[in-house]
Amino acid sequence: MLQIDQLVFTAWGRRFFDRATVTLPIGGKVGLVGRNGVGKSTLFKLILGELSPDGGDIGVPKAARIGSVDQEHPATPVSLLDTILAADVEREALHAELETAEPERMGDIYMRLTEIDADRAPARAGEILSGLGFSTADLARPMAEFSGGWRMRVALAAALFAQPDLLLLDEPTNYLDLEGALWLEARLKKYPHSALIISHDRELLNNSVDYILHITEQRLDFYTGGYDDFERQRAEKLRLQAASRSKQEAERAHLQSFVDRFRAKASKAAQAQSRMKRLAKLQPIAATIEERVAPFTLPSPPRPLAPPLMRLEGVNVGYDGNVVLRGLNLRLDVDDRIGLLGVNGAGKSTFAKMAAGALPIMTGNMQRERRIQVGWFHQHQIEALDPADTPLDIIRRERLDLGESGHRSTLARFGIGFDKQSTTVADLSGGERARLLLNMVAMEAPHLLILDEPTNHLDIDSRRALLDALNDYQGAVILITHDRSLMELVADRLWLAADGTVAPFDGDMDDYARLVLERAGSAAPSQMAAPGRKKRRVA
Ligand SMILES: Nc1ncnc2c1ncn2[C@@H]1O[C@H](COP(=O)(O)OP(=O)(O)OP(=O)(O)O)[C@@H](O)[C@H]1O
Ligand SMILES: [Mg+2]
Repeated sequence: MLQIDQLVFTAWGRRFFDRATVTLPIGGKVGLVGRNGVGKSTLFKLILGELSPDGGDIGVPKAARIGSVDQEHPATPVSLLDTILAADVEREALHAELETAEPERMGDIYMRLTEIDADRAPARAGEILSGLGFSTADLARPMAEFSGGWRMRVALAAALFAQPDLLLLDEPTNYLDLEGALWLEARLKKYPHSALIISHDRELLNNSVDYILHITEQRLDFYTGGYDDFERQRAEKLRLQAASRSKQEAERAHLQSFVDRFRAKASKAAQAQSRMKRLAKLQPIAATIEERVAPFTLPSPPRPLAPPLMRLEGVNVGYDGNVVLRGLNLRLDVDDRIGLLGVNGAGKSTFAKMAAGALPIMTGNMQRERRIQVGWFHQHQIEALDPADTPLDIIRRERLDLGESGHRSTLARFGIGFDKQSTTVADLSGGERARLLLNMVAMEAPHLLILDEPTNHLDIDSRRALLDALNDYQGAVILITHDRSLMELVADRLWLAADGTVAPFDGDMDDYARLVLERAGSAAPSQMAAPGRKKRRVA
């Protein structure tokens, strides 16, 4: 479907691809993986023609339609449903043509409309929107009424609806909740054409794709299977490579010692000569570059505070007189690890804001340890970064006490290497931005870390590094994440935001996933309860 041949691309002072070659099978679902900043989003730009290669070819069959999620999703007065329907360009064009077409052309138009199942288009659009969390009432609302995050979902829905021959998705689960992510997994699995999906989400990569394309050492390596299969195959490949390398080194040393010993002896000169030839012929086996991610540093608070950190009794909280969460009765202790669950819009972020001390309560009693220092990470911080700032500018402002070399070494410790420290925020990759902010939030050794979707944009090994750092961290944690494995490994208590309140959840993550799918199943129109959906997680 997609043929990349001898691709060379160099930019911003480094080479991204060096004669990378791969052919993606027709109809294949392929996960595109690799370290933060390795060039995944850049590869999409090359495929879409937004950047041009320095050498080689990127080819797709002639009439193939490539579709991706628009990063621009303007707040128009057009309704949600019409916005999605417009994404099917052919159907739109046929309908427009009907208005003015000559009678003899009409037959063809109707035939084509039937072929593409145009009548069912609104129903198909509805299924997709409902799967992504929109309600029936939303369908008629103008785009302008949705927040940026929801418009992003609309763009995703539009891309799925248009059903291009090659669908390109760049970290689609970042703006979804657990419910939406589960739905998308099932949807992608049965997507009728080819799809290339950038993702750092192990569950998605295990459940929805048949192949993995790995960007490493300026190559594109293709593997069959999901992420776990890929990891296994790659580990095996590295092991074999290391083994043949050490075997070859032993042979080389043996030949060399023979040559050295007998070069002087006339009687053995011929043998020494032939061995020297063999030595010269030995192809060096490249040492694989161990790819290591920088660890996260989450410094622990210096002195523990007296428990509890926070106690809520009959608290109502919200905005402008509108209560979002009511009747909160909760207690947070100094070493609690709380996992906060709930669908988008259930009030998780409102709760986080209140706990961070950035939103006053309306009524009730909130006791908060006076000296508490809170580190609060959320996605809006990333959006709020000034695109013209560089990591150096940012750290300079935050740490006036450090000199230039202190600023640079602090950034390096955060995993922002020297070469990235003067890149503007606009040009940093998503993962680089997230890494910078996460480290900054924890820099002052807070007593409570509130992490609202901290893993979005982070590559899989960075997620593991974050998990390790969280395990070492001594303070309290409130974690909001749609990353099931992280939630399971960090949280020792679960709270659920639902029905206008937050309360302890009696069950584990499997119970929660089951609850979510049951609810989605009963709320959605019958055709949405696709077979693959329920089966999968109930096991
Ligand atoms: N216009 C630019 N100027 C300078 N550097 C850039 C520019 N665009 C991208 N880069 C750098 O190129 C590298 C690759 O960026 P890209 O967005 O392709 O990474 P990615 O693999 O998608 O990473 P992530 O997983 O974090 O999204 C990054 O280090 C980024 O900082
Ligand atoms: Mg990217």
